[in-house]
Amino acid sequence: MKLIIDDANVDKIKKICEFYPVDGVTTNPSILAKSGRQPFDVLTEIRELIGEKAELHVQAVAAEAEGMLLDAKRITEVLGRSTYIKIPAVPEGFKAMMALKKKGYRVTATAIYTPMQAYLAGKCGADYAAPYINRIDNMGYNGVAVAKKIHDIFKKNELPTEVLAASFKNSQQVLELCEYGIGAATVAPDVIELFVKNPAINAAIDDFTADFEGLVGSGKSLKDC
Ligand code: G3P
Repeated sequence: MKLIIDDANVDKIKKICEFYPVDGVTTNPSILAKSGRQPFDVLTEIRELIGEKAELHVQAVAAEAEGMLLDAKRITEVLGRSTYIKIPAVPEGFKAMMALKKKGYRVTATAIYTPMQAYLAGKCGADYAAPYINRIDNMGYNGVAVAKKIHDIFKKNELPTEVLAASFKNSQQVLELCEYGIGAATVAPDVIELFVKNPAINAAIDDFTADFEGLVGSGKSLKDC
């Protein structure tokens, strides 16, 4: 499972990239608005930071297919042809997805709440489909179960699309999907930082340090021996 950062705050992305093995960055119009910066200013900086080989997902904002194609053209002109174009999984979006795939774009179907949306996006040839785990949970359904079902639909129908699960609020949601072998999870920095936050882990490391310093002296490590 690929691990992707769901944010457009350059400082936060920098920090996560320094400490965690991540595969790229996803954004959406709300995330871009939260950055408070002009979209292509912040996106260009993110692309430079993560490099050409990392995944960058940017959402088309136009409501109709023709406009989505123009957004896609502009996105890839500025950020490179490898950039994934996020397209909402609605009828205008399906039309845009089919046209974009014919032109060789990378496509991430987004705003997915139901397996049927994902199945149709898969039929359109989308590279990824992004179910919103926590938002589905908040509607009284099971977001993880929906994502697993979508993964199974893709595999059983031999569709090339992978699940890129989004909207996480905790590690358990991410881990369950990792165990299931979905394609990718995109997670906000605050949630990534909770992945390895456990007093038992820190206590074990503190014990190792204290024992070793008892042997060789305070503040010393193997390089000093
Ligand atoms: O792109 C969709 C995803 O970022 C939604 O996350 O946390 O706003 O539900 P959230």
